[in-house]
Formats: sequence, structure tokens, C-alpha cells
Amino acid sequence: MYRTNTCGELRLANVGQTVTLAGWVQRSRDLGGMTFIDLRDRYGITQLAFNMETNAPLCEQARKLGREYVIQVTGKVIERSSKNTKIPTGEIEIEVAELTILNEAKVPPFTIEDQSDGGDDIRMKYRYLDIRRNPVKNNLIMRHKMAMLVRNYLSDRDFLEIETPMLIKSTPEGARDFVVPSRMNPGEFYALPQSPQQYKQLLMVAGMDRYFQIVRCFRDEDLRADRQPEFTQIDCEMSFVEQEDVLNTFEGLLKHLFKEEKGMEFGAFPRMTWHDAMRRYGSDKPDIRFGMEFVELNDVAKGHGFGLFDNAELVVGICAPGCAEYTRKQLDALTDFVKRPQVGAGGMVYVKCNADGTFKSSVDKFYDAEALKAFADKMGAKPGDLLLILCGPAMKTRVQLCALRLEMGNQLGLRKPDEYAPLWVIDFPLLEWDDETQRYYAMHHPFTAPKPEDEALLDNPSRWGDIRANAYDIVMNGVEVGGGSIRIHDRTLQNKMFHTLGFTDESAAAQFGFLMDAFTYGAPPHAGLAFGFDRLCSLFGGVETIRDFIAFPKNNAGRDTMSGSPSPIAKEQLDELKIELKK
Ligand code: AMO
Repeated sequence: MYRTNTCGELRLANVGQTVTLAGWVQRSRDLGGMTFIDLRDRYGITQLAFNMETNAPLCEQARKLGREYVIQVTGKVIERSSKNTKIPTGEIEIEVAELTILNEAKVPPFTIEDQSDGGDDIRMKYRYLDIRRNPVKNNLIMRHKMAMLVRNYLSDRDFLEIETPMLIKSTPEGARDFVVPSRMNPGEFYALPQSPQQYKQLLMVAGMDRYFQIVRCFRDEDLRADRQPEFTQIDCEMSFVEQEDVLNTFEGLLKHLFKEEKGMEFGAFPRMTWHDAMRRYGSDKPDIRFGMEFVELNDVAKGHGFGLFDNAELVVGICAPGCAEYTRKQLDALTDFVKRPQVGAGGMVYVKCNADGTFKSSVDKFYDAEALKAFADKMGAKPGDLLLILCGPAMKTRVQLCALRLEMGNQLGLRKPDEYAPLWVIDFPLLEWDDETQRYYAMHHPFTAPKPEDEALLDNPSRWGDIRANAYDIVMNGVEVGGGSIRIHDRTLQNKMFHTLGFTDESAAAQFGFLMDAFTYGAPPHAGLAFGFDRLCSLFGGVETIRDFIAFPKNNAGRDTMSGSPSPIAKEQLDELKIELKK
């Protein structure tokens, strides 16, 4: 038997027992007469004591153990004379009688400590060592617990977990597909699923009624802190439901996770239409942990001879509480922030509402005290506040002001990682115009149903941009954690939708024919949603990067530096696949 107990298990109540433990050498301390070793495994750390007086050869052997050696010890549990209150096993130690080296270890390239000396790149290259560290290990443990809570919650509510294929047909909508060449069908390719969307709809036609799957999805898109090329969804679909049923079911799931994992209780999640979210926060995923809502200022800004404002479609601002004392340098830094290419504003106007009731702005030439007071009144500003104002084309300016609002939220410490503000964003537009290709795309996906009251607008191309969808996102702390929609189950409407998206009958049939066929055999009304599981975990863990919650993630260039993928393949493999690389 390799071990009788784990390294996190023994307490005062075990004193006197003879135990066998196995694990990794975390650190050793040689105090002359005594040598102490911290033995670590997944469950914790237990101190091993070697006594020079009673067993000199064993003590000598222990002194030679290197960091991360894998060892096995047998000995008696004894009470420690100097106790460590910081760890659960801190009141006991093992008086070691036998020591076996199970495996030696090279000195690791970084310290296996909570605060490691390893940078990101080196930790990723040796991810198996990184996972030995508590912060990463605990993230993976939390991820497991969350997955179990999800499975049990959904299973208890009659959802069946059903696997769908990983090698599927490539579809042009959405992000780019990762493709896999077929050896048996030269010149033909599978795609890895961006999501199991069509299969889960087929499962509804198949009468499975309630489906879920914790499933890997693949998207060949630019990577960011909250995006990985392969990521995991909690993918769900339900039959005979309306939007209200879906929102309630998955709000329930999130509340369950919060209660079980964090001991937090929530009332009904607030809801906001997409239009309101854009108008009030300039984002379809607003962070509502803090206020600083947008105030539209056209009526007070225009007509004072300031051309930029006079000619702008929209003048809009936020009120940063208590920031009137900002220095020139701080204000310049904010101007630089909005002028960065990532934000793209031309500039920023500020109005200081001084504590003594006076005003100071960057546009004093055009606006007297009375005019500036009108800005302040409109924005509900108090003495001591700072108004930050942008102008330009409406939607563009809102998105720019959103970046500034989030930056101010960060600077003022208003985006607390242990505070959670879930929000349903509903009534998304059905279609989104793309300037580059000069056509409409489905904002969610082509199977999303328009709101019944907007359906008639499909016959009027000039109104396509106004059609609202029965589509919803669940947003938390400025992150889109999930999204879904009511699906089109009517073939005529689906055909109309394909035409709107620029498909011909033939191209729609070639791409989606199997789904369309299935819909002729009795498709029930159905709807669903998918959560980004990695994002959910990182939010629960209070960090922004999902990599910390994935055992073996890719870096920002989409590479796995540990295994060295992607990598070239042998000529024979290419030949077998009938693939010739361009020089
Ligand atoms: P959607 O494309 O919105 O919907 O994806 C659902 C959720 O998956 C997460 N997500 C990602 N997480 C990490 N890395 C990525 N690259 C990534 N892309 C998306 C997000 C997102 O909210 N089939 C539909 C769902 C449905 O309609 O039922 C779908 O895939 O948190």
C-alpha cells in the first residue's frame, strides 16, 4: 500500500497512529539535530520530522532529498511542540521511521509556491508543475465542483446529457472553423464544432425534450483574456418553452451555483433591453456593479459655437464622482486613453464641478458658468464631481464612452472582483449590418426567431435593422457568460430568414439541408442557451483570464508551448491526406 492517509488529513486525534504517506518534497529545513520536511500532495502538507539522535542514517538520507522528489514515509503521528496554526495539519508531525525515494526530480524551473517566481511563459511550458501550485490546483478543483453542481442540477430537472459529434460539417456563419482533413475522402474536410447548435436542435426534433452537455467548442478567432480557441460550454436546449421558461430555468441554475459555491443569494436578476444597454452603458454586456450611466447632452451642448459638439450626432458624458481634483496630468492621461487606437475617440471634453460651486472646463471659451451648470444639472453632478464628455456618431461614441466608463470604474476601485451583478440583456437585434461585405448577418445565429410582433418587417428590407430577436444574453460584471434564443421551428420562416441572410435555396439546402429536412418531420417549438463555462469559472474565481481555469490552455498566439502545437506534419501524412502545401 502506497499510503494510508493523504497529506491533508491528519490531526491531533490521530496522534499515536502509525501511518504511511506519499507525496512531493515541498521544502526541507536542516536544524542540525533535527531535519524537517514538508511533504505535499493534492490534499495538503504534512510535516515530517527526522531525528539525528535516534536515527542518524535516516536523517542523513532525508537531508539529501531535493525539492519535488517523490517519497514515501512511514512513521508515528506525534503532537508538534511548535504548532503552525496556518495549515489544518499544523498541530501534528510524523516521526519518520522508514523513508523510500519513489522518484527523484530535477530542480523545477520555478518555485512551486503560491507566489511563484516563474513568469507566464515558463509556467505554461511546465504547466504540470504549475498545476502543483495551490492557486492553479484550487481553480481546477473549483471547476470540477461547478461541473458537478451543473450536472446534478440539470439532471434533477430532467435534462439528459447527450454527446454530439466533434467531426461535423463546416458552416460559413459565425467565427472561422477549425477544419480536419478526411483521409478516406480526399479533398474533403470536417469542421470541429463552434457549438453543438444544430445537433441540439435535432435532438429536440428527436423528442429528447431537455438536453444539456458540458462540451468542448472550437473557434478560430483572435484570442483575448476571455477567449480560447478551444473552450467549454454548458450547452442546453428545451422543447415546448417560451423565453420566460428558459430565463427562469437558467437563472435558477446560476443562483444554485452562487449559493453552493459562494454562499451568496440573489433576488430576481434584472433585465435590460439591448437598446437600453447600448444607450445607458454603450455595451451589450454592461458592468452594472457601478453607476456612472451615460447622460445624453445634445440639448445643453449644442448652439454655443463649439463646432465639434454642434456637428456631432451625439454628445454624451459620464459623471465621475469626487474626481474634480484631477490634475492636468491625470486628465491628459484620460484623453490619451480615449485616443488610443483600441478606443478611437478624437478627444475628450471635461468639466470640473469644483467644491466651491465654480466650474472649470476644457471648453471654457464656448461655455460660461451658466452653460456649464446646465451640463452639471443634466448629469446630476454634485460639487466635487468631474464630467467626462465625448461626441461623434452615436453608436461609435457610445462604445468609446463605454471604454472610458470601465477605465474610470477601475481607477476608482468600483469593479470589485468579489461583487457580482448578473443581468439579462434581452431583445437583441436579429440582424447586424456588415459594411465590409455590404450585407446583413445574423447577430446570434440564423436559427434565432424574430420577435413575433417584428416578423412582418422581414418583408421590408429597409427595416431589417429594426427587427428584434427573441434572443438573450446573461451578462455578469461586464462579461458575456452565456447567450441563447428562441429558435425558428417553422420551415417557411426559416427559409425567409436564409433569404434575408443572402442564401439561395440551393446554398441554404447545401449548408443546412439536414436541419431543414428534419424540421419537416414535426419540430417542436424549442429554445436554448449556452454558458461559457470557462468564463463562469473565472468570474467565480474573481479573475479576468479564463486560462487560469483551464488545465492546459493555449497562449495568445493559439500555441500550446508545452507540447509544441500546432506543428508541421510529415510529408507522408500530407500525402496520405492528398494535401499539398503552397510554397
Ligand atoms: P455563443 O456564441 O454566444 O452562443 O456562445 C455561448 C457562450 O460561450 C462563451 N464563448 C467563449 N468562451 C471562451 N472562449 C471563446 N472563444 C468563446 N466564445 C464564446 C461565451 C458565450 O456567451 N449555440 C449558441 C448558444 C445558443 O444559442 O444556445 C452559442 O454558441 O460565454
